Amino acid sequence: MTINSASGPDSYAAPAASTLDAASNPSLFSELPRYQIDSVFALIADYIADTHPEKVSLGPGVYRDDQGAPWPLNVVEKVEKQLFEKNDAGRHEYLTIAGDGTFLELARDLCFGFGEGTPEEEKLKLKIASVQTISGTGANHMGALFLSKYLKPARVWISDPTWMNHHTIWELQGVERRTYPYYHAEKRAFDFEGMMATLEEQAEKNDVILLHACAHNPTGLDPTKEQWKAIADLCERKGLFPFFDSAYQGFASGNLTEDSWSVQYFLRNKPNMEMCLAQSFSKNFGLYGQRVGAFHLVSNEPSSELRESIKVNLCHLIRGEYSMAPRGGSTIVKTVLLDEQLKKEWQNDLTIMSDRIKVMRKALYDELQRLGTPGTWEHLVTQIGMFSYTGLTAAQCHALRGKHHVYMLDSGRASITGLTSENVVYVARAFDDVVRNN
Ligand SMILES: Cc1ncc(COP(=O)(O)O)c(C=O)c1O
Repeated sequence: MTINSASGPDSYAAPAASTLDAASNPSLFSELPRYQIDSVFALIADYIADTHPEKVSLGPGVYRDDQGAPWPLNVVEKVEKQLFEKNDAGRHEYLTIAGDGTFLELARDLCFGFGEGTPEEEKLKLKIASVQTISGTGANHMGALFLSKYLKPARVWISDPTWMNHHTIWELQGVERRTYPYYHAEKRAFDFEGMMATLEEQAEKNDVILLHACAHNPTGLDPTKEQWKAIADLCERKGLFPFFDSAYQGFASGNLTEDSWSVQYFLRNKPNMEMCLAQSFSKNFGLYGQRVGAFHLVSNEPSSELRESIKVNLCHLIRGEYSMAPRGGSTIVKTVLLDEQLKKEWQNDLTIMSDRIKVMRKALYDELQRLGTPGTWEHLVTQIGMFSYTGLTAAQCHALRGKHHVYMLDSGRASITGLTSENVVYVARAFDDVVRNN
């Protein structure tokens, strides 16, 4: 650009008007599809813009403490200090394409419940190829990308409802998406019969079936152990490919083993079934913005050659997509999982978070009972994890926002972590009002 001598170097002379106007020369991008911004992010923006002093955010899936503030885990703060003091000169170096090998082994051991080092465990480990990903979303994405290329499923079965990004991720791979019933609105319960009947009748060999390992988002309703066993049998009988999404291990119940029961059952009881798992450390370590995750593909052969071949193919895709995952957050997770004492401290932090959520569920339930709010509310205390599927209608959720400045998704999903001892009575009164008047 030539700088006009009459103006300073900071000014900018507009170029002469083009002879072609926008109407005769439309942008190459003027016909882009009109996507809506993800509803959770739109809700956050509206909440931030609201100036009401008593506004409450029950939208995003992030933990908040009883003051409504973000809570870096005690163990994470401790390890961050240790790492800072260590001043390792290599701390900003590239990882390998597959990621940090030690982190990956620890992450795998955590979700598949390895620890004893028995010969059976070592054999199982040979079946699992693991790569580091851009958190749970990246793990879901890499799984969808790999499977769409190499398994080539005719369709993927996604629970109705689900975390909305499952749809986006699979839509981007061009795989036909079908939904299986998950929520029984009248009973406010998991629709086990509906799910099984649909999959039994309509799913076909090689189809992928997406399963939430625990704390189903958004309903907070999980299958019982007996139901999980029946789901595993169905997958085996019909030749379906289970894809576990594990975003809440330890965060849901406070118990790491309990929250990965489904995954461990499938691995140990269906030796010939191949499957995969997307693992996130966003919630259970509070490392949302650090993007820590892993993708694990389980084959049916305990063979280091096959494992290596799967890994190399995953790495080929990773190299072209993001080269390698970031190392900051995974170094924190690795440091904790390597050290028994730090692991105990982490367990303590998990208990603090899951207990607070249980206390808030109960407080909301008690207050609605006290107010005599029409309807049944037991589901608030029986659902687990971060979210409650409250059963409020879209109109009631609108009224909650417009009249009471309480923000939650139109589906009726409330992030329980947004409740505090101070605002829970206010929120219960707001629920009571919209239930009676909308
Ligand atoms: C079911 C489910 N899967 C995966 C994720 C992935 O989260 P992240 O990409 O932050 O790890 C989330 C986050 O809300 C989730 O709820």
